[in-house]
Amino acid sequence: MVGHRMATTVLVGAQWGDEGKGKIIDVLTEQSDVVVRYQGGNNAGHTVEVGPEKYVLHLVPSGILYPGKLNIIGNGVVVDPLALLEEIDHLQKRGITVNGNLLVSDRAHLVLPYHRLLDALREKQKGKGKIGTTGRGIGPAYADKVGRTGIRVVDLMSPAQFAEKLRFKVRETNEIARTFGLKLLSFQNINEQYLEVARKLKRYVADTIKLLNRFERDGKEILLEGAQGAHLDIDFGTYPFVTSSNTTAGGACTGTGIPPHRINRVVGVMKAYTTRVGEGPFPTELHNDQGTQLRETGREFGATTGRPRRCGWFDAVATRYAVMVNGIDELAVTKMDVLDALPKIKVCVAYKLNGKVTDSMPADVELLNRCVPVYQEFDGWMTSTKDAREFDQLPKKARTYLQKLAQLSGSKLSIVSVGARREETMFL
Ligand code: GDP
Ligand code: IMO
Ligand code: MG
Repeated sequence: MVGHRMATTVLVGAQWGDEGKGKIIDVLTEQSDVVVRYQGGNNAGHTVEVGPEKYVLHLVPSGILYPGKLNIIGNGVVVDPLALLEEIDHLQKRGITVNGNLLVSDRAHLVLPYHRLLDALREKQKGKGKIGTTGRGIGPAYADKVGRTGIRVVDLMSPAQFAEKLRFKVRETNEIARTFGLKLLSFQNINEQYLEVARKLKRYVADTIKLLNRFERDGKEILLEGAQGAHLDIDFGTYPFVTSSNTTAGGACTGTGIPPHRINRVVGVMKAYTTRVGEGPFPTELHNDQGTQLRETGREFGATTGRPRRCGWFDAVATRYAVMVNGIDELAVTKMDVLDALPKIKVCVAYKLNGKVTDSMPADVELLNRCVPVYQEFDGWMTSTKDAREFDQLPKKARTYLQKLAQLSGSKLSIVSVGARREETMFL
């Protein structure tokens, strides 16, 4: 693995997000020239630990922590420019160079204040049926994109164009604000504020589509960094409890301009168990002490919102589906060390629905909520895996467990992670 050419690789989350993508991206960045985000926005929180330092990246690709790599925010990402500038500022204050190594697509759509407002309003209106979004305005921003009233980075670069589009959106949003008795937005204030933002953002803006295609032709190693996970995908996830983008491998093409036949490899990241933040079905969720133990040992608290993550056993029905829709050829399994102290570990191998065993995920979330996992039980290895650096150094029972996860998911085991740090990684 290490050393051999990767060409163009897509890395995706194979569960409900927070699989440890940031860590694996960081490890793979060493062999890459360019790291590209292709969907989502600052709803993502990708943690990378380098030595004693811990960084949480939201919009900036995780390759930023490696000197000499180019980082691109692709056209498929929704960019909150205030959040981006703040993130850049924060990184620079911590000694990370952000100068000439970060570009933003001129075609990326913007997340603007009214998107955050509408995100919060919609969640409130939904009451008990809320999605549990990150509140970053992601859904409304993608809705505007598809509804053809979005405002793009390229518009922000042209004050007249920006003002015209903003005026329309502020008028439209204020009608909603009036209906719900909310404070009205001021076109003037937003317009002025974003003129200043445009000035600061300008140096990062580029035609990243052309650039990426040239890199691709020149044989550069390109790493496409997925955010969220397969079951949060707008098409393949547990709709409506999903995010508003294609988190799966297909999104890497539409979100960067790299054509499908130019993608050479798809790496799927999955935890050795399962977590989910926010609402929505989660068949293997543990509502008992075992769930609490996973949350505490795995430090399962959201990297973006700090919310406790819901925890449960590994769900092979869900990961098999993720392998299928992404075409995952290599699996990276993270957080094996979190299971070190467990005497018994369960894996969901099928669901039982209305007394019948099924191995597929129903489209209807109400049905998915009624699915009861069929578990296979494994003996725990009851010893620390933290120091293993080669697959063969893992306890036999841990190896058996990993091989079973790969076999049940229908793909090949390629990377195993036993800690948050770079060196706590093994390649097969
Ligand atoms: P992402 O959104 O997929 O990048 O994942 P997050 O960063 O939101 O959450 C994963 C968390 O697990 C982070 O705190 C990582 O530092 C941590 N992590 C990643 N891999 C491992 C691992 O193998 N073992 C342990 N204990 N922690 C890990
Ligand atoms: P990373 O990239 C985990 C979840 C939210 C909510 C749903 C919709 O760190 O894996 P949104 O704000 O996107 O409209 O929220 O999606 N969600 C995530 N869960 N990891 C993420 O990103 C997530 N990004 C969004 O909790 O359930
Ligand atoms: Mg995360």
